[in-house]
Amino acid sequence: MHLRVLVVIFLIFVEGNNSEECVERSFITALEGEPFHLKCCLSARRHHKNKTFTWTKRYGRNSTMKLSSNENIIINGSVIEFWPIKMNDNGIYSCIAGNENKSWTISVTKKNRHGCFHPNHLITIEADVGKSLSINCIDDYYQKKDHRISLFKNCSPIPGNYRSSILKNAELKDEGNYTCIFFLSNKYGSFNVTKTFRVKVKDNISRVPKLFGNMTNYVEAELGKKKTLNCTAILDGTDGRLYWDYMEENDTNININKINSSDSNAMTRVSSLLEIKIVKEENLNMWYNCTLSSPSITETIAYFLKKKEGPADISRHIFIIALVSSAAVIFLVIMCVIYRVDILLCYRDFLRRDETLLDGKEYDAFVSYLKDCQSENGEEHKFALEILPEALEKHFGYKLCIFERDIIPGGAIVDDIHSLINKSRRLIIVLSENYMSSKVKYELESGLHEALVERKIKIILIEFTPIRDFTFLPQSLKLLKSHRILKWKADKSLPYNSRFWKNLRYLMPAKNTKNVFSSDPLGNELLPVVSKF
Ligand SMILES: *[C@@H]1O[C@H](CO)[C@@H](O)[C@H](O)[C@H]1NC(C)=O
Ligand SMILES: *[C@@H]1O[C@H](CO)[C@@H](O)[C@H](O)[C@H]1NC(C)=O
Ligand SMILES: *[C@@H]1O[C@H](CO)[C@@H](O)[C@H](O)[C@H]1NC(C)=O
Ligand SMILES: *[C@@H]1O[C@H](CO)[C@@H](O)[C@H](O)[C@H]1NC(C)=O
Ligand SMILES: *[C@@H]1O[C@H](CO)[C@@H](O)[C@H](O)[C@H]1NC(C)=O
Ligand SMILES: *[C@@H]1O[C@H](CO)[C@@H](O)[C@H](O)[C@H]1NC(C)=O
Ligand SMILES: *[C@@H]1O[C@H](CO)[C@@H](O)[C@H](O)[C@H]1NC(C)=O
Ligand SMILES: *[C@@H]1O[C@H](CO)[C@@H](O)[C@H](O)[C@H]1NC(C)=O
Ligand SMILES: *[C@@H]1O[C@H](CO)[C@@H](O)[C@H](O)[C@H]1NC(C)=O
Ligand SMILES: *[C@@H]1O[C@H](CO)[C@@H](O)[C@H](O)[C@H]1NC(C)=O
Ligand SMILES: *[C@@H]1O[C@H](CO)[C@@H](O)[C@H](O)[C@H]1NC(C)=O
Ligand SMILES: *[C@@H]1O[C@H](CO)[C@@H](O)[C@H](O)[C@H]1NC(C)=O
Repeated sequence: MHLRVLVVIFLIFVEGNNSEECVERSFITALEGEPFHLKCCLSARRHHKNKTFTWTKRYGRNSTMKLSSNENIIINGSVIEFWPIKMNDNGIYSCIAGNENKSWTISVTKKNRHGCFHPNHLITIEADVGKSLSINCIDDYYQKKDHRISLFKNCSPIPGNYRSSILKNAELKDEGNYTCIFFLSNKYGSFNVTKTFRVKVKDNISRVPKLFGNMTNYVEAELGKKKTLNCTAILDGTDGRLYWDYMEENDTNININKINSSDSNAMTRVSSLLEIKIVKEENLNMWYNCTLSSPSITETIAYFLKKKEGPADISRHIFIIALVSSAAVIFLVIMCVIYRVDILLCYRDFLRRDETLLDGKEYDAFVSYLKDCQSENGEEHKFALEILPEALEKHFGYKLCIFERDIIPGGAIVDDIHSLINKSRRLIIVLSENYMSSKVKYELESGLHEALVERKIKIILIEFTPIRDFTFLPQSLKLLKSHRILKWKADKSLPYNSRFWKNLRYLMPAKNTKNVFSSDPLGNELLPVVSKF
């Protein structure tokens, strides 16, 4: 409704000032099959009452023909109408009034076969993004006739309520060719008159030349693959140029291609691509800088090519994992070696193994030490008769045979010793300087020898005081020298959980000592035996 009011006002305005309709352009393209008209506006018309207009058409160079109305040309004073214009209406037309005249060159063309307009028959409208865009299907001349209007965009109907005009804020997607079609029907027939606007929308943001993307980029590239770096800028017709900068070993690096390309949608966008055909080690860890140079601005975007962690690097991870795990295994083995005694004791306790049940022996160990009268109250004496039995018998549940303690004096000592050693599972010898210097004949020697040679008994050596050389030992004991000798370290060895007792237990036969332990509160284990002295 609003539009119709506007149109009416417009018509009144047109009626009042007919000069609006005058066709001033000299070269006119007309579409074949459409109604066409020329209106001649000469000053003579206003100054003289003589309203007689003569219309002529020139053929070739010289011959001119006076025109008069026929079946498709209507001459009405200053107006000549074609219903419709045809291909053979091409030519130069003149209107003469008095001594004035006006000429037009009319060229008639066909419409695109598939289109609804002709590319040479366009009215260009330019709009800025965000600014108003107005398309109005108004025709000064045919509007007056009996008509109907339709508006098309790129020859397709426009979705939405756009019957004959568009008024909106321009967007980039509004670009296109808009065709108004006036449908006319009169005594000459039914005709379409088209009027096409080519709408160009300009993005005002893109006026300033600008590079796209971050200033510095760290880009991953895979060895042996192609890598393309894309540098895109908006130039917007300015005198800008894009170029690449990078360290070149050779001036002509055939492995690197530079490709210019421009976006067909928006000519203002220009891309320059740097293409590395096959990425090599020497292409990596380098800067590739794209610079936009224009009169108003110089900008650079830098790309740093870094190696992409490919599948080849997995083997390195595997190597590291293997290294770490083998280190862990070695560590474990070392720990096992160091703590093998503890582990074995634990294992024994866990299995409750008992080697002592069926071998028919009476004692777990025979204890031999220096029985020198002079050192009756010496340290070894205390160790062999008190500390050792206290620990092994009372705490760990072994049964010892200590000659001095267990054998009634008198009788054949050597025979006794023989039979006692035979009844024992281990022979514990407490070594000390005194033992060494003693001139006493070792009552053990022969039995010892036998035991060693016949391998009937295992020997445990305890070094009670530090011994510098072992030459004093009887020949048979020297054989054992390479074996482990338990060192007694006074106070350090006293607690039951010390290394000394663990090692001793380890060398002693496995025996189910559960009862002994369970009757012993945990705290007691740490109590030094010596406190009882
Ligand atoms: C047209 O006129 C020119 C001189 O203006 C003349 O030389 C030429 O012969 C004429 N051509 C014809 C076809 O009459
Ligand atoms: C000639 O034009 C006038 C107005 O410009 C109109 O009133 C008249 O009817 C026209 N005559 C013909 C024969 O079309
Ligand atoms: C009008 O013009 C025609 C030709 O241009 C002429 O023959 C006629 O005499 C003129 N009439 C008047 C009144 O000037
Ligand atoms: C048209 O007018 C021009 C001057 O404006 C004149 O030279 C020419 O001869 C005229 N043509 C005719 C056919 O009257
Ligand atoms: C572009 O147009 C919008 C809408 O009119 C306006 O707000 C903006 O300031 C313009 N930008 C430039 C750079 O001119
Ligand atoms: C409008 O038509 C012209 C001429 O055919 C063409 O060059 C242009 O691409 C068209 N515009 C659109 C947006 O289709
Ligand atoms: C006028 O246009 C309509 C729709 O575009 C079409 O169907 C019709 O054939 C056209 N008529 C003429 C005479 O060109
Ligand atoms: C730009 O950098 C940011 C953060 O550094 C990143 O998230 C974004 O993807 C980068 N843009 C491009 C186009 O690389
Ligand atoms: C380069 O980047 C621009 C903007 O991101 C994009 O429009 C263009 O298509 C890209 N060109 C290629 C060849 O990938
Ligand atoms: C790319 O464009 C630059 C200027 O912008 C020009 O110097 C160069 O020759 C062009 N390269 C190609 C392959 O077209
Ligand atoms: C490229 O840019 C980086 C970072 O801005 C810079 O360190 C480097 O020197 C530049 N390289 C070249 C060849 O311009
Ligand atoms: C240039 O390239 C050739 C062939 O790839 C190579 O033999 C030569 O050493 C290169 N020159 C320099 C300066 O790196």
